[in-house]
Amino acid sequence: RDLYGPGRANSRGVEFGHRASLEGLLAEIAQGARQACRAEPLVDGRPGAGQKRTLLSPIDGTTLVGEVTEASPETADRAMAAAQAGFSAWSRTPAETRAKALLRAADLLEERRGALLHLLQVEAGKTLDDAVSEVREAVDFCRYYAAQGRTLFGEGEPMPGPTGESNVLRLRGRGVFVAISPWNFPLAIFLGQVTAALVAGNAVVAKPAEQTPLIAALAVRILHEAGVPASALHLVPGDGRVGARLVESPLAAGVVFTGSTEVARIINRTLAAKDSAIVPLIAETGGINGMIVDATALPEQVADDVVMSAFRSAGQRCSALRLLFVQDDVADRMIEMIAGSARELKLGDPREVSTHIGPVIDAEAKERLEAHVRAMTRSAKVRYAGEAPAAGTYVAPHIFELDRPEALAEEVFGPILHVVRYRADRLDDMLRAIEATGYGLTLGIHSRIDATVQRIADRLSVGNVYVNRNMIGAVVGVQPFGGHGLSGTGPKAGGPHYLLRFATEQTVTVNT
Ligand code: NAD
Ligand code: ALA
Repeated sequence: RDLYGPGRANSRGVEFGHRASLEGLLAEIAQGARQACRAEPLVDGRPGAGQKRTLLSPIDGTTLVGEVTEASPETADRAMAAAQAGFSAWSRTPAETRAKALLRAADLLEERRGALLHLLQVEAGKTLDDAVSEVREAVDFCRYYAAQGRTLFGEGEPMPGPTGESNVLRLRGRGVFVAISPWNFPLAIFLGQVTAALVAGNAVVAKPAEQTPLIAALAVRILHEAGVPASALHLVPGDGRVGARLVESPLAAGVVFTGSTEVARIINRTLAAKDSAIVPLIAETGGINGMIVDATALPEQVADDVVMSAFRSAGQRCSALRLLFVQDDVADRMIEMIAGSARELKLGDPREVSTHIGPVIDAEAKERLEAHVRAMTRSAKVRYAGEAPAAGTYVAPHIFELDRPEALAEEVFGPILHVVRYRADRLDDMLRAIEATGYGLTLGIHSRIDATVQRIADRLSVGNVYVNRNMIGAVVGVQPFGGHGLSGTGPKAGGPHYLLRFATEQTVTVNT
């Protein structure tokens, strides 16, 4: 299947083992680091008023990354009004033109890769590997949604009918979409939301996470340069109060949100309480993601996949493994192997190519995670405790063995793995425990018994099931991503149904 149109495919990675490729990449990043980093509200392409703040890197807590002007409430209101004014022309712009702007943006992202990678590393603390994957994902979103947008928002679909009339069903933008994104994929998720809303014909007011506005500002500049009119895309950096202001606006025709379940609920309540039109919410939230490992699984593969799923990106992926269930016959050996692999991980400055785990996003996150480690150290069995550098916001990876799954009551967004051993005849109790969390994002299964795999996958309502592999890194257009229940509303990002939720449908019937 040709996902992206003739001759196009997912973007290509970098072979780190190839010396010339790696050196070329590092040179691109060094070049990208020379650019000044600034983020400010952009309303109709012009700077808006607000409060200035400097941003320090999580790598050491002291390096200045850049400066942000956080939008005042009045600036946020102006952005909504400007987007409302810009909607009319953009929604009438042919889908083909809108798609072309996204394709051009994808090319520009690749051209400016050095600056983007630099920001992903110093602003968000990403390792080189993670940063490269994230730029690729952002490029893929642009190209995939461009291809989808062309098809869905083109001429309209003639409907068959017996009446002799002509009937056409067409999709159109809703109006002003508010896009609110998290810091953990500050480029890919930011751009995924924004480009989906834009290609569907909406005007967008985008609010990036307060921790990562710089890369969002660069992404918006790229989209403007690529041909998205400044009247159709506005940027309002700021914290949750700015997000709340946008959601409250009577001009909001839709909200796309990725972040915590708690904030999704707040937004949902605000939208539900409005007297105006019913405003749809697309929410992609968190998870207490489980992996089941039975006695037939391959131990070496399990160790690799568990370490990757739980600790890559310092565990700061919504898809990351939080609760590992291991059949008791093999549990001790398996946990020892996993701990052995975890011991090999190098923690530290993410700009060093050999680093596996960088910092967590900020001091608040570090404090929260360390409090969890202290509580678990008192109540559970410590199976592995790593060490972390003192400067910066590093959190040492930990593995705790719990006596029951319910001992992990909430999403812990960092490099901390919880393990529960189960008896083969009690597998159903474990599945019930996963169900009882109310989340449904990712699930891992390691088993060489097809019937077991099928039974578990059928039984649990989760968005993404990964069998005999790691459970992170969904690929755009290949593994549409997103969950159910407390994990989100759907539709799946990077999937064929995503754009539909950004649109209204209109049937035009003409008596011929
Ligand atoms: P968060 O909910 O704290 O913040 C997300 C965004 O919401 C930020 O831009 C923030 O400023 C804004 N916000 C905060 N309060 C608001 C309010 N009252 N009204 C409107 N906006 C408000 O989440 P986070 O800490 O940035 O991100 C981590 C969370 O995101 C984790 O729970 C993770 O699982 C989830 N996540 C989910 C996915 C997914 O695809 N399912 C992907 C990435 C992250
Ligand atoms: N889409 C990201 C992943 O699959 C969150 O890891």
